[in-house]
Amino acid sequence: MSKQIKILIGTMTGNAQLVAQELELRFDGDGIAVQTIDMDRLTPEVFESDHVHLICTSTYGQGDVPDNARSFIEAIDDAKPDLRKMYYGVIALGDRTYAETYCFGGKRFDELLNSCGAVRIGDILMHDASSGTMPEEEAADWSQGWLTLCESVWSQK
Ligand SMILES: Cc1cc2nc3c(=O)[nH]c(=O)nc-3n(C[C@H](O)[C@H](O)[C@H](O)COP(=O)(O)O)c2cc1C
Repeated sequence: MSKQIKILIGTMTGNAQLVAQELELRFDGDGIAVQTIDMDRLTPEVFESDHVHLICTSTYGQGDVPDNARSFIEAIDDAKPDLRKMYYGVIALGDRTYAETYCFGGKRFDELLNSCGAVRIGDILMHDASSGTMPEEEAADWSQGWLTLCESVWSQK
């Protein structure tokens, strides 16, 4: 399996976009082919490629995905594609002030992809906007361990 990552971005005010841009730079530097794609107008066919998919999304409303991710997550839910050959990671942006729905946008993707048979690489990174830390910095730190796990997946293929 060649080293390819697609970062799929669900965002309202751009934080997830910043995270994706930061990771794109870093992954590029590590010799990995990276694409970043906004979730607007995405369909479940995006998962048919041989990439590791990194879901990078925030949370809105009552634990919903952002508007630009809504039709995508609904289409996955409707199609319930067979994703048993798909590997993914999740970066979930949220705010602990919303205690009942903390980072639910990313968690919803995780549950759905898992129910379609996809295999998550590593733990979900959850970023708390009320912590005062920068999501792109936390993501950059987290991505080192996550990439090591990706490398072991790639080396088995
Ligand atoms: C109106 C509104 C509703 C939100 N609802 C939630 C929520 O239910 N759960 C959560 O964890 N974060 C919630 N957040 C926090 C955002 O997910 C967080 O600020 C995130 O970093 C925004 O990322 P984005 O700029 O990529 O959209 C909410 C933020 C706003 C402004």
